[in-house]
Amino acid sequence: MSSFSQHPVQPRSSAGTMPLTPFVLLGALWGAIALTWLAWAAGAVTAALTGRPGGPGFGSEFVTDVLRGRWDIAYPHVNHALVGVVYGVLVTAAAAPVIIGWIVWERRRSHAGDPLPSLARPNEVADFTPGGVTKRARQLRPSLADTPAKQLKLADTGLALGTMLLPGRRGPLLRASWEDGILAVMGPRAMKTTAVAVPLILDAPGAVLATSNRADVWATTRTSRALTGTVWVFDPQAITRTGQHWWWNPLAAVASVEDAARIASHFVQPIRRDKGEDFWLLAAEDLLTSFFLAAAASGAAMSDVQAWLADANDDEPVGLLFDHGYPEVARALRGRQNGAPETRDGIYETARTAAKCLQDPRIMAWVNQPADADLPRFDPDAFPVSTDTLYLLSKDGAGSSGPLVAAMTDQVMRYGVRRAEARGGRLDPPMLCMLDEAANICPLADLPQLYSHYGGRGIILVTILQTFQQGTTVWGERGMGTLWGAATVKLVGAGGDDPRFAADVSTLIGEHDVATLALTRDATGHLSRQVSVRRQRIMGPEDVRALKRGTAILLASGARPAMLALNPWFRQVGAPVLSSHTAAAIAQISDAAERERLIGDLAADGVTLPTPPAPAVLGGTSRGATRPGNNLAREHPDVGHQPTPDPDETAGGPGAAARRATPTVPRLRGPAGRP
Ligand SMILES: Nc1ncnc2c1ncn2[C@@H]1O[C@H](COP(=O)(O)OP(=O)(O)OP(=O)(O)O)[C@@H](O)[C@H]1O
Ligand SMILES: [Mg+2]
Repeated sequence: MSSFSQHPVQPRSSAGTMPLTPFVLLGALWGAIALTWLAWAAGAVTAALTGRPGGPGFGSEFVTDVLRGRWDIAYPHVNHALVGVVYGVLVTAAAAPVIIGWIVWERRRSHAGDPLPSLARPNEVADFTPGGVTKRARQLRPSLADTPAKQLKLADTGLALGTMLLPGRRGPLLRASWEDGILAVMGPRAMKTTAVAVPLILDAPGAVLATSNRADVWATTRTSRALTGTVWVFDPQAITRTGQHWWWNPLAAVASVEDAARIASHFVQPIRRDKGEDFWLLAAEDLLTSFFLAAAASGAAMSDVQAWLADANDDEPVGLLFDHGYPEVARALRGRQNGAPETRDGIYETARTAAKCLQDPRIMAWVNQPADADLPRFDPDAFPVSTDTLYLLSKDGAGSSGPLVAAMTDQVMRYGVRRAEARGGRLDPPMLCMLDEAANICPLADLPQLYSHYGGRGIILVTILQTFQQGTTVWGERGMGTLWGAATVKLVGAGGDDPRFAADVSTLIGEHDVATLALTRDATGHLSRQVSVRRQRIMGPEDVRALKRGTAILLASGARPAMLALNPWFRQVGAPVLSSHTAAAIAQISDAAERERLIGDLAADGVTLPTPPAPAVLGGTSRGATRPGNNLAREHPDVGHQPTPDPDETAGGPGAAARRATPTVPRLRGPAGRP
């Protein structure tokens, strides 16, 4: 027995698994009749064109004459060579549509292992097609209810996910609605940034919060976003080297033990992710909670928190807590400080590790009140109802500003909820929270729980992970399960090498019936055909793993899985302009890095240069200002923090942006004549 053909037959049979012989014979018969008729028509057409009388009519005699080569009888009055040419033209004209039709049919025909025929059709993801998403946008955004359909911008209707792939063709562009929560699990270089983060940020109609550990998202989108509102870049670790142009007081939003505990949890979460839960971690979280509460209640600063952490005998926070109405917390803190020295030191050490970033003067400069009273303060309450953009950048690893990124994200989202509640339940326009590299730099402890809640508030969460396992590391199996379940739109992209996850996705995609056509020759040489049907995965784990880069599986609530072609920004209309914005931003970073290097070289040669004004740090209290830690930024100004042109300046068009992108490193020379 030899099997030679497999086609899915259920539920989308389009396969030609029936024995084809009768159809082939019928087709051949009609083809022969058509060709003979065209031979007769060629004679008639030639006679008409040359003005000669016609030959015999079409019938068995004409066919016999042609088959016997009796050309003079079949075509009595015309040139036979000319008849041959006309016949060729007629046959070509008649065959062309047949051949084209066959090619189209062959392309669309399902082949063995092709998942597309068994995945969703447009009517099965109707809520995500332009019509469905527009309808939902009108319900979810009252501001659009009266806008005529023709004036409605597509970007206002939802978040573009990708173009649907159907057998042999492309379907509609699918969009998520303004109440979806999106989770993208896509491997390295699978277009997370270029096809998910950047296009969604560029399209967003309202405020955008974007986290990243690289400058790429900021570089491509900042100029366009600057046209819609203020661009805020939180970049204490100088990833973009744009310097500090504002500050933020994390304690301003702390009005209760719960608020303080939330901030503390963001500091502890990265350690919890790496080491798991234990007594020291819980106690350190508690210690940080009491310090943040004491600082917020008394008007002290983050630098004071850092100072209290440095000295386990400092009883000032206990006094502040008693003075400001938190005696229970004060007593707990005093008990901790008076406990066994080994235990106390262990707790303090764990808390110091968690709050390591507070030891970095570059980071502290962003969260302590600056000496420059004109430096604007970021207002997380006003942000959700603006059309501003907040880029939160942090490197991975210990001592990074990640806890502050998580804390700011959390505060902005919480204020967003309050604003939504005050506006009938939803933000309109919605706020987009694009958490690129979420597991590395923005591990919000209760992100899974927030997902289901925020979608209904017009706060759209997009979490981008490289692997599912990254999520389980941060939020645990149960937390990641909650996140997966609460995300109403899930995108699974290329590059996933986790066998368990690939198997799970394969299971979710489901199974279909595949027909196998077998030819069997018996002892007498008689050939018989047999069609057998077996059930198999639409996409096996190996197919999920081998997804092509630029494609993604869409798993949306209440819809069959669909296959999408992602639309990275560099393949969209407007890519040249965005490329020039990106180039200008990258040139700006290189420019600043080069200047830093030159200044470093000169410093090594003993040349002291006038340093650019870095925001000097003051304590939140007069007492705090005397602490050495408070003035570190002034003592060690960061040369990387050069004031740079506001992104608004680049709105002069690509040409202007490119001109500004030209490196403008001053030709500094040291005593040794070294550049
Ligand atoms: N402007 C561009 N033109 C063409 N290709 C590009 C452009 N920018 C990025 N790419 C390519 O697109 C692919 C995806 O890049 P992208 O940064 O979106 O991946 P990613 O999934 O975010 O990766 P990572 O895991 O490193 O963050 C890469 O191969 C990259 O080289
Ligand atoms: Mg990326």
